[in-house]
Amino acid sequence: MRTVEWHEGKVRMIDQRRIPWELVHVDLPDYQSVAAAITDMTVRGAPAIGASAAFGMALAAHQSRAITVETLLIDLTAAAAMLKASRPTAVNLAWAVDLLMDMARSNEFSSADDLREALLREAQRIADDDVAINQRMGSNGQVLIQNGDTVLHHCNTGALATVDYGTALGVIRAAFESGKQFHVLLDETRPRLQGARLSAWEMEQLGASYDIIPDTAAGFYMQSGEIKLVLVGADRIAANGDFANKIGTYQIAVLAKENGIPFYTVAPTSTVDLSLKSGAEIPIEERDKAEVLTPFGNAIVPPHFKARNPAFDVTPNRYLSGIVTENGIARPPFEDSLRRVVAGEQI
Ligand code: MRU
Repeated sequence: MRTVEWHEGKVRMIDQRRIPWELVHVDLPDYQSVAAAITDMTVRGAPAIGASAAFGMALAAHQSRAITVETLLIDLTAAAAMLKASRPTAVNLAWAVDLLMDMARSNEFSSADDLREALLREAQRIADDDVAINQRMGSNGQVLIQNGDTVLHHCNTGALATVDYGTALGVIRAAFESGKQFHVLLDETRPRLQGARLSAWEMEQLGASYDIIPDTAAGFYMQSGEIKLVLVGADRIAANGDFANKIGTYQIAVLAKENGIPFYTVAPTSTVDLSLKSGAEIPIEERDKAEVLTPFGNAIVPPHFKARNPAFDVTPNRYLSGIVTENGIARPPFEDSLRRVVAGEQI
């Protein structure tokens, strides 16, 4: 089952706010509700919001009453701006919207309806490609996991964070499906608990061996010698290999280096932003403090207490052993290896 898909003229997605308690879908009738679903994290995870935004653009084209390509372009430009503003850090979102806008502006279409159909086909292609790319990353990365290992994972990078299969959790899935025996520790990932709610739910579906741990326990299990490998996802990777991922990734990376544990990120080349020299240029989303003070509606302190809530942090490239992509594992120096994998070279 796909996290997001086109269904009878609407965008259908799994409501990730309800997992693990129930598996329900929402059918979104317009691009404005797709943008809202990205912002409120009905759908989340870099590749999943990229595909959602692509379907959102196709929906905008179908909503528009424009009769000419020129007037349709005006409506698409407004939709693109709203979808791109829905979350700032993951570059997959802007990447997907820009692909569709470039297509719309290409002068290849003789009628508005031709353009509408082409945009839907392209959104569908982005979604289908995502699944195939994740499976390639899974097979490239699963060699990193050995029988008997314990692997630490942060946030949710599985089928739910993508159209299907997953990135870092996809590597774990590929290793599990190849018959390897290993254990996974899932950081609960405060404050939205993507690790506890979503990754554990996916491990349950798979029947793989896991334990949820408090975020604060990662160092304890590294120091004890139990963790042999760390796998995380990425929301945006700069040209030098610095990368943004779910808040807490940086401290795990530092602890992994201190304890001599290999630390990899797993991401498709659509997550690489070669226009940014370093991670200092990556925009970091700051979310509502209510997520910290009143998680899932449960007040842990009075609501007037003060809080801050950065959703991502940036891990400098020196902590990375490698970046698993669909075109192979990029190793330092990343300026060179990332340029090659983005150009499509197999390494
Ligand atoms: O805020 P989220 O849940 O969208 O953050 C997700 C992550 O940080 C993932 O690690 C990242 O998007 C890669 S998912 C394949």
